[in-house]
Formats: sequence, C-alpha cells, structure tokens
Amino acid sequence: MFEKEVYIKRRNQLKSELKTGIALFLGNVDTAFNYPANLYNFRQDSQFLYFFGLQNPGFAGVIDFDNGTEYIFGNDFDIDDIIWMGVQPKVSELAAKVGVHNTGEYKDLINLLSKASNESQKINFLPPYRGETIIELSTLLGISINDVQKRASERLIKSVIKIKEVKSEEEIKEIEKAVDTAYEMHTTSMRMAIPGRIEQEIVGKIEGISLASGGPVSFPIILTQDGQTLHNHHHDNILEVGRMMVTDAGSETQECYSSDITRTVPVGGKFNKRQSEIYQIVLDANLAAIHAVKPGTKFKNIHFVAAKVIIEGLIKVGLMKGNSEKALKAEAHTLFMPHGLGHMMGMDVHDMEGLGENYVGYDEETHRETSFGTAYLRLGKELKPGFVITIEPGIYFIPDLIDKFRRENKFKDFINYDKVETYKDFGGIRIEDDILVTENGCRVLGKPIPKTIEEVEAVMANPL
Ligand code: GLY
Ligand code: MN
Repeated sequence: MFEKEVYIKRRNQLKSELKTGIALFLGNVDTAFNYPANLYNFRQDSQFLYFFGLQNPGFAGVIDFDNGTEYIFGNDFDIDDIIWMGVQPKVSELAAKVGVHNTGEYKDLINLLSKASNESQKINFLPPYRGETIIELSTLLGISINDVQKRASERLIKSVIKIKEVKSEEEIKEIEKAVDTAYEMHTTSMRMAIPGRIEQEIVGKIEGISLASGGPVSFPIILTQDGQTLHNHHHDNILEVGRMMVTDAGSETQECYSSDITRTVPVGGKFNKRQSEIYQIVLDANLAAIHAVKPGTKFKNIHFVAAKVIIEGLIKVGLMKGNSEKALKAEAHTLFMPHGLGHMMGMDVHDMEGLGENYVGYDEETHRETSFGTAYLRLGKELKPGFVITIEPGIYFIPDLIDKFRRENKFKDFINYDKVETYKDFGGIRIEDDILVTENGCRVLGKPIPKTIEEVEAVMANPL
C-alpha cells in the first residue's frame, strides 16, 4: 500500500467534488470457484482500493461529504479465521494505515445507511459489476435488484473518473513496474515461438512470470497464431512456420496497477516478405500514433492518424486502392482494423470501464461514433497530462468479414478484394504500447520491448 497521505489526498479530492450526501464504496468479497471453500484469488474492487487502500475481502468504505467523516467497516478475524489464515491486524489498525479513524463491524454499516436515509442524505454508489455486490447494495439500500444499476450515481461516477484519470507519480511508477514485467513476459514469448510448440506452453510460462513478479496477469492472456480473432483465448494450436503469433498480455502489480502490451512475431524467428510488409505498416501506424499523442489532442483524431497510415501502407502493397483521404472518410480501413486504437489504462486494464465506457472515454465535446469498427473506439476524448493510454493498431485478415464485405460490395472502390482473398490465411498483427501523456507530448512507459523487425529477429535468434 502507498503512504496514508496518498489515500487521504484522494478522498479530499473527492470531497471537493461532491459536497453533500455520502458515498458508499463496497469492497469485493471472496468468490467461490467451484465450491464455497475453494476460492478465486481475491481481487479488490479498484475504486475501493483507490480511495481506501486495503486489499481485504468484505470491507466497505463511506465518506460523508456533509461533515467530512470517513469510515471503514469490516470484521476482525475470529479464532477460526486465525487458525486457517493466520493473524491479521484489527480493522481499526488497518484503517489507520490509510488515514481512516472511524471503523465499525460490517453489520454497523446498515445503521449508518439507515440514519443517512432517514436524514434524507443522498447515498451515492458506483455501478456494480459483480452479482454479489448487486445483491448487497439491494439489501443495504432496500432497492430492488433490478433497480440497482440505474440508481448508481452519475455525479459520483463523473467525479471518480475526473480524479482517477490523471495518474500521480506513484501510480506511474507502479504502471512502469507492470510494463517491466511485461517486458520479461513478451521477450520470453518471442523466444518460445518455435515451430512444433503448443501455444498453451507459452501461455503458462508467461503467466508464471507475472505471478512470480508479485501479481496475476491483468487480463486473460491472448496468445495465438490465429490472430485474426481479436481476443482469441484458445491456445491449442501447434505453431507453424509461415504464421504470425500474437501475444497480448500484461501483468498487475501488488497495488493492482496494470500493463497491456501486444507484440506479434513470425513463428520460427524470421519474417518472410509478406509478413514484413504488413508488420511494417502496423509498426508505422503505432509510431505515427505515438508521435501524435499530446495534451489537447482528441484521441479520436489519433485513431484516424493510425488509420491513415494503415490505408496508405495497404495501398502500397496493393491490398487497398484509390484515394487515401476518401478511403479514410469512408472508413474502409475497418475491414482490416475493426477496433479502436486504444483505451485508458490504470488499475483496470481498461481503466474504470465498469463505471461506463462512455463516461471514461467520451465527454460533452466528443461523442462515440456509430459506424462499423469506429464504434468500438473506447477512448475518443481530449487527452490531458497524466492520462495513461494504450496505442494498439492492427491489421487483421478475417475471412468471414472479407466474405461479408465482398458480398455486400462494401468499400469496393478502396479494397482490392482479389488480392485480399490471397491473405485469408495470414492471421493478424497488433502492436501495443502503454503511453503516458506528458505536459508536452508523451512517454512510452517501461523498459522498451523489442518491436522493430530487426529487434524482434534479434531476440528470436536465442530461442527457448
Ligand atoms: N489487451 C486487451 C484489450 O485491450 O482489449
Ligand atoms: Mn489494450
């Protein structure tokens, strides 16, 4: 955990945003894996963790904005807990570590909430994403389970996002730690990408690197030579020369800050001509987009910077045709990159997505597009110093999408379908980095992970 002043400052920031009512933050509880005593690894709720710093299951935090009081509710370990799980500091001792001096047993929470409700204080809470939390909010607040989501407080959502989207020095250090673990994961994955190996073996090895560094992976690993499927979690292919292997993987630190990195490599370690041509276009798009990142620029425009590079590159290799500006306007690149350029990253790999993607990625000035592909862009709004974002362009040859668009004559002035047909066995390429928006531009976080063709081939020259 950070110094207690970090959490005090964060709660004070929230107090200066919401001046009345109370905010209720339910921490997560332990969740059964396949029977009650066999649990998933515990992961604290990111919002509770941000403001209250404690990674214990079954805790809740409250801030009363009317009088400035803060509370943590939770139960001290009893003798049975101590026998099975060891001695644990008392709730009051834990709370003191994060600067909170009012504590109570978990059952006392309901009294506080009833009193607030009797005094007509508004009880603000964030949208829950776990069934247990929905049930608990319903019980504590006396609202129907079906109404819990819609009763979440927009005022609290917007305030939390405003505070959390700008990362502090200590958070950036944590994220860089997570990227450095990703460096080990990705260079290992590259070196293990040899023909005849089953993908799962690499997945297991790199997930172990994350765990050995202190935290789990920040999302289930995507690792596949069928990279045309954007979020492919099947790892049962036997690697073959001639295929590209996508690894999209990151790690979480003990404080639950993430990394999210993608690299794509030729199985066996040498790019062939077709692979190097497409790879270089994606790399150029990644670099051009990073170059364009600066405060005051809308991320949506950076998405289109990358799209333009992809269109121009694909025209050069004969997969697209026509005028690149017109192709961009028609969004013809979405046949090859039907996803957004990136997203916010922090404690959650898609930072605060549970609070509502549009609240995190868009605002009054920037609205989400509705067109195919571009609608998937998770972040569109203007960038500010302190934002941590991903830049992850890609080119994919998705046979079903190619067939569909061809049947529909879609983008026929911009796509050379006959040539595209010959790439249906190609797979996909994505290259992703984690970027801090600075006062004047940006900085790629963490130890640089090999990404030029020469760098990737050099790492792969030492197979594991
Ligand atoms: N790394 C997975 C994603 O960004 O969706
Ligand atoms: Mn990502």
